[in-house]
Amino acid sequence: MIPVASLTMHDERSDLASSLLTEDRFSLSRNAFGADFKWGVSTAAFQVEGAWNVEGKGPSIWDEFTRRNGTIRSGHLADTSCDFYHRYAEDIDIIKFLSIDHFRFSISWSRILPAGTGKINAAGVDFYNRVIDRCLRLGIEPWITLYHWDLPLELKKKGGWANRDILGWFTEYTSLCVKLFGDRVKRWIIMNEPLAFTGAGYFLGIHAPGHKGLGNFLPAVHHATICQLSSGRMVKDVLPGAEVGTSFSCSMITPVNDQPRNVRAAARMDALLNRMSVEPLLGMGYPVDQLPSLRKIEKYFHPSDEKLYGFRFDFIGLQNYTREVVMHVPWVPYVHASIVKAGRRNVPVTSMDWEIYPPSIFEMLKRFSAYPGVNKIYVTENGASFPDKVENGHVHDQERMRYFSLYLSQVLRAKNEGVNVQGYFAWTLLDNFEWAEGYHQRFGLVYVDFETRQRIIKDSAFWYKAFLEK
Ligand code: GAL
Repeated sequence: MIPVASLTMHDERSDLASSLLTEDRFSLSRNAFGADFKWGVSTAAFQVEGAWNVEGKGPSIWDEFTRRNGTIRSGHLADTSCDFYHRYAEDIDIIKFLSIDHFRFSISWSRILPAGTGKINAAGVDFYNRVIDRCLRLGIEPWITLYHWDLPLELKKKGGWANRDILGWFTEYTSLCVKLFGDRVKRWIIMNEPLAFTGAGYFLGIHAPGHKGLGNFLPAVHHATICQLSSGRMVKDVLPGAEVGTSFSCSMITPVNDQPRNVRAAARMDALLNRMSVEPLLGMGYPVDQLPSLRKIEKYFHPSDEKLYGFRFDFIGLQNYTREVVMHVPWVPYVHASIVKAGRRNVPVTSMDWEIYPPSIFEMLKRFSAYPGVNKIYVTENGASFPDKVENGHVHDQERMRYFSLYLSQVLRAKNEGVNVQGYFAWTLLDNFEWAEGYHQRFGLVYVDFETRQRIIKDSAFWYKAFLEK
């Protein structure tokens, strides 16, 4: 249910948002992006759905990981989260109310294939059918992300991403999704930030499944690469009219000063955080020039991989939040570099302690678009967490409005300089379960009270609505 207070306040809030749009520092017009530019909002299954064990859903690695002591801040669980599973209809109505035309969400693999392969869970399939159908009925285009980090637990028991058999499991899952939803869904994102889930989940151990070390990381990275390519091709083969892409996180990297050792450290960090996800998919291989220890990844290559490299995605999903400042630190394994936390640099930050640095998105759009083989870019995530407070039933999140408008100005700047960027998705619709941070971070356009699940539309959402309706 949309809180009545927000609805009745609609005009008043919209007036505020409109006046902000015309203020100099917020001045931005939707028209400047062109009539075909796509405006959306993104979510991810594990972060919003809840209903972790209802109606036949199998457990995912995140259901298990969150139950381990010390993995998640304050021991938060995502068992109910925003309860999108039961409240999807009102949430999609909110998207409509905000005049957002595109909704990106992910499928929970273990909701439709509880053991990862084999038996299908009809209730899970039904849920996604209802989500898709409601979007279409309201004139909202649904975009599916196939994998946003919640691997079925059964597959983890067999080695998960570190086991090459994942290629077969992921193929089965992809082909099922295409068969079930391909009649209505025209835009597909194969994976969300492969380097984030392999880095945090298979090297650092701070995300599910909690594995550590190069011996886990390298096979997981390579298997994610070939799964993206083979599934991308499969979706395209079955649905030639569909647009298929995959999404990466990326951040502009700046050396802490111009000392050569710090400049070299920045180049290595850039290889790890930016080049490593996109270059292999373009047939350029892994950035071993900067990171020689990556050569060990060749152990996981297979002659049959070669034929996969010819595939080109229709688009790349670019996700950017911040920039990183980097310094040389000899004892850090492999990269010999470390990120200088924004909190120590006296710069504006979000609640994640991520620097607010809008030119980062401009730089990354320029760089990614310069790769031969990158045809089109959609910004599939951008947003910010701030310590929102409810005051008399409202959330006056000025900082988020400012963040969005500053980053959007940089997207426009890139577009005006010839970058083929054709869409923008705000992260995210609802405050939700922010991985290892639990519910401590609020990225939503819509505030969620995690006791009552009540939604409150934040001022930033009214700002986005006013911007879209202008
Ligand atoms: C992205 C991720 C999202 C969300 C966001 C904010 O890396 O895809 O799921 O958590 O960051 O941290």
